[in-house]
Amino acid sequence: MDKVVSQKIEKWTTSDVVKNVLVYFINFIIIAMLVMGASYVNYKDNSISEFFQYLSDIKKPLRLFMLLAICISVMAVYFTFENKNFLRNAVNSEMLFLIMEVALIINFLVGKYVDIYLRPLALVAILTLFLTNRRTAMFMNILFAIVIYLLDEFGGSGIETKEYIAIIIGFSNGIIAIYLMNNVYSRLKLILRAWAISLPTILFIFITSLEIEFANSTKAFICGACSGMLTVALFVILLPIFEGIFQRVSSFKLAELTDHKARLINKMINEAPGTFNHSIVVSNIAEACAIAIDEDSLLARTCAYYHDIGKIRRPEYFKENQAEDNPHSELTPELSTNIIKSHTIDGYQLAIKNRLPKIIADVCLQHHGTMPILFFYDKAKKLTDGEVDVMQYSYSGPKPQTKIAAIIMIADGCEAATRSLKNRSRENVMKTVRKIVSERMELGQFDECEITIKELNIIIHTVVNNLTGVYHKRVEYPKVNLDGISEELNKEEDEDKKEE
Ligand SMILES: [Fe+2]
Ligand SMILES: [Fe+2]
Repeated sequence: MDKVVSQKIEKWTTSDVVKNVLVYFINFIIIAMLVMGASYVNYKDNSISEFFQYLSDIKKPLRLFMLLAICISVMAVYFTFENKNFLRNAVNSEMLFLIMEVALIINFLVGKYVDIYLRPLALVAILTLFLTNRRTAMFMNILFAIVIYLLDEFGGSGIETKEYIAIIIGFSNGIIAIYLMNNVYSRLKLILRAWAISLPTILFIFITSLEIEFANSTKAFICGACSGMLTVALFVILLPIFEGIFQRVSSFKLAELTDHKARLINKMINEAPGTFNHSIVVSNIAEACAIAIDEDSLLARTCAYYHDIGKIRRPEYFKENQAEDNPHSELTPELSTNIIKSHTIDGYQLAIKNRLPKIIADVCLQHHGTMPILFFYDKAKKLTDGEVDVMQYSYSGPKPQTKIAAIIMIADGCEAATRSLKNRSRENVMKTVRKIVSERMELGQFDECEITIKELNIIIHTVVNNLTGVYHKRVEYPKVNLDGISEELNKEEDEDKKEE
């Protein structure tokens, strides 16, 4: 087991437990009612008495409730063991349930009023993928395939073939969607790949087409082929709604934020070009580190883009934006420190004001933790010749609360330190990176996030590989005397003119 540098203890309060129990119970009832409602709508078309007969045969609704209870319990158990922190926030559970319920209603309506093969069965998988992660999407895809089976079995969807087919098609469509749509940020790619989601449905129709009349099978083929496109269309409509309701950050949103035309990025390019270049290098390092320790790489990249956004308030006070004049030479160390350390709070406020996701604003605030600003601390000590309170010369924190914030802290420190190195050999860069990480460890900067020693070692090697790539030694150009060459060229030019 990895040694944990510091484990952030997420204590479960009674209120967390009560909220979760309520969310799971209420949604269990809602899903059961939706399936019963579907059966009511279906039977109503034929004869209402059939529906009452369905209800009077208590075995069927009882079986539905029991099977559904098993599904919901499995979901609770899965998140308890797989991602306790995710489950702790009842809003996350509510989001997954709401995705499932909306998808259930849409699938029922499409199946009943258009065609059973047009159903967007992969909708839950793809929405969960973009709002959470691949593992959760995989789990929810399996769960939704079973719920769709329950809808067909107990809701009387009128599916002509075996109900369990919904499990096979739903599961396969979802798996394909998860693999194909992962890390897709362009709308064109989304549309092109949408067709592939329909493949299992088309294959299924092909296998069973011999049993269906030709006219029916043609309609089934067309509907089956369009099901992937319908899934993607609904996904594009529903994603911003879920993002808004649950304050989630999808990869689409992150891709938009890293666009150089994004408002704050554009402002940074124009007003603090040095900070922008620094942020680009930090973002490349942070992205590589996130990939190496299996964190969200696009999120790390986006956070790195914005981590120093607070510097755009007073860009000239930061070294990377200074051409010659250094305004700090006319300030007291105390005032300089206040200006330097305010960029974390300014960044946070600017991010919140511009409605950036909270996680990005938090990284602005946490990326220096409570580290001292040694240059001005030292200067103050020399000037006062006495005791100086180190706290006064330190960032106000908080310390990084997430692995992403810890990655940005390391990438930021290492980039700045390596930039000022004269000798950027691999050994020297490695020594510098190790020093940066151990200094921060000694000062307890990783005490409030869940990063492990093993992950820190992986990060150190990734940062070194990246920085030696950025600041690689160039092949020295040979010194050539251009005088001889220019005379020769001029001579050739004169001869050409004479010939003309
Ligand atoms: Fe910073
Ligand atoms: Fe920075």
